[in-house]
Amino acid sequence: SQTWLIVPAAGQGRRMGASKPKQYLTLSGQPILAHTLKRLHGAFPSARLVLCLDNDDHWFAPDWVPFAHWQRVSGGSERMDSVLNALHAMEAQDDDIVMVHDVARPCITHGDLLALYRAAANHPGGALLAMPVADTMKRGNDQGLSVRTESRDGLWHALTPQGFRYALLRRALETARRQNTVVTDEASAVEALGESPQLVSGRRDNLKITHPDDLALATAIIASQALVSQI
Ligand code: CTP
Ligand code: MG
Repeated sequence: SQTWLIVPAAGQGRRMGASKPKQYLTLSGQPILAHTLKRLHGAFPSARLVLCLDNDDHWFAPDWVPFAHWQRVSGGSERMDSVLNALHAMEAQDDDIVMVHDVARPCITHGDLLALYRAAANHPGGALLAMPVADTMKRGNDQGLSVRTESRDGLWHALTPQGFRYALLRRALETARRQNTVVTDEASAVEALGESPQLVSGRRDNLKITHPDDLALATAIIASQALVSQI
């Protein structure tokens, strides 16, 4: 059986507000996309990569892809449409493991990637990297007033990668699309089928680069990871 990686990279990076999509901004000498692919390849050198790119992407360079087996597919209007395009284009077996990882998470570590893969392979509902919520959670009203404190017991931040058997992931996302629900991660589509993905406690530095100030943070994270060589 094969291991697959889907990397949705067809976003526009609107919240970043840069002159090009955020995955092409430079971070310690390389585009974010190159960092992310290099780390995925380090953990899964023989995996097959499916890269979702916008049809109007002027910035992508195939030199940044370290995988021997890879294909490019068109992005869709939402992240889930990009991932569905990948699932429909790839020639996978039902029980192949498919991991989906945001291109905007270049700080992903080797250890987290292997832990996620193991959990995805061992749990029928698949697995996702996640982080227990640490802050006190407030319920705000529409005037921005804090009306109540929510319990953070059992609350997690969902990260990527998220990994599932091909057949389950495809059925989950096709069902979500048919029901017109927009899901922002794969696990929510799988949960809607009544399956329960395993939460795998991941590192706190698996940042999704979203806003301009995340660039300095990611630079610092990558530098500190190199220092302790824990990637
Ligand atoms: N993505 C995608 N196809 C889309 C939208 C998003 O492949 N139609 C990808 C992005 O490239 C990113 C991941 O999904 O790797 C997570 O999305 P997000 O962080 O929201 O990135 P953007 O959509 O690019 O940013 P923004 O929402 O600020 O425009
Ligand atoms: Mg987005």
